[in-house]
Amino acid sequence: MFHSKIAGVGHYVPDRVVTNQELTNYMETSDAWIQERTGIKERRFFEEGVDTVSGMAANASKMALEKAGIEIKEIEMIVFATLSPDYAFPGSGVLLQRILGLPGIPALDIRQQCAGFIYAVSVADQFIKSGTYKTILVVGSEIQSNIMEISDRGRNMSVIFGDGAGAVVLQQTSDPDKGILSTHIHADGTFAEELMLEHPGSKRKERFNNEMAAKGELLPVMNGQLVFKHAVQRFPEVIKEALDANRLSTADIDLLIPHQANLRIAEYIQKNLGLRDDQVFNNIQKYGNTTAASIPLALSEAFIEGRIKEGDLICMAAFGSGFVWGSALVRW
Ligand code: COA
Repeated sequence: MFHSKIAGVGHYVPDRVVTNQELTNYMETSDAWIQERTGIKERRFFEEGVDTVSGMAANASKMALEKAGIEIKEIEMIVFATLSPDYAFPGSGVLLQRILGLPGIPALDIRQQCAGFIYAVSVADQFIKSGTYKTILVVGSEIQSNIMEISDRGRNMSVIFGDGAGAVVLQQTSDPDKGILSTHIHADGTFAEELMLEHPGSKRKERFNNEMAAKGELLPVMNGQLVFKHAVQRFPEVIKEALDANRLSTADIDLLIPHQANLRIAEYIQKNLGLRDDQVFNNIQKYGNTTAASIPLALSEAFIEGRIKEGDLICMAAFGSGFVWGSALVRW
């Protein structure tokens, strides 16, 4: 029986650092408000002509491949999670495939927003378990600074989200003591409109027009309090589901990497599960919420900082727009 291990992890962020203080130039907000409600101190914004979602993904992927000691040509499939593809269509997976020079291999885009990376890992894991492929590149990459309005009108969302990318190389292993132990994915479309970007969707006759732009209808909308309420319920639930499925307990977790939605959410999860500070990794302070990129970006930094050792039990969990949520348990 095969399963997959994380052979390497990498990340990439744009150079431009945008502090909370800088945001006060464009909207009525304060460093204190943002830090108190979200924990965020700064985030990265892309520069047009320098960074693209597929280009950032390629940079993160090259780092993951280097860490894994695997050559690009060994990749047999790309699974790409993003809510902000380079083009409305085709997806960014094919663009990453083109940049990496891998014509012919399948490239699949996953659109599960903040849970996109967990869904992507889950899909890739099934292809490896079935014996179809041995080496799969799983990527999360986002440019969100240009779908927010950096103004009073967009301030409830634009202070939270940032740009960045992360990637892992999943590789087949027959070592029963190592790798992805299980993945758990869920959705509840009841709340689809509570965190969404309606346009340019296909529902209306005109996908977008100046009137929509003037009314602010081309901006994402978020019912922040409802999202918060559901997130703090679903995160512990899906983490416990993963632990139960493997007959493990919260005490066994060496490092929890929650999707970096809001530091207050991560602190709530930590308290709810009775985890110590050293059992949880957060880097939202530096990057804000990078949606599908947040978990591999955090995983990569945790690895570089020496927070992950061979044999550690790593738990990754996410919740986001859909609502969609999920977890993955990994023996490193
Ligand atoms: N700066 C200053 N004030 C702001 C602000 C900003 N950037 N954004 C909103 N406000 C104001 C609101 O206008 C509101 O003012 P009012 O009371 O005069 O109407 C007040 O702050 C409180 O707004 P509210 O939305 O109730 O704040 P909150 O305490 O719920 O915090 C979030 C807002 C977004 C930080 C919080 O709801 C949250 O983090 N939710 C989860 C979001 C999330 O994780 N999304 C991603 C999911 S993956």
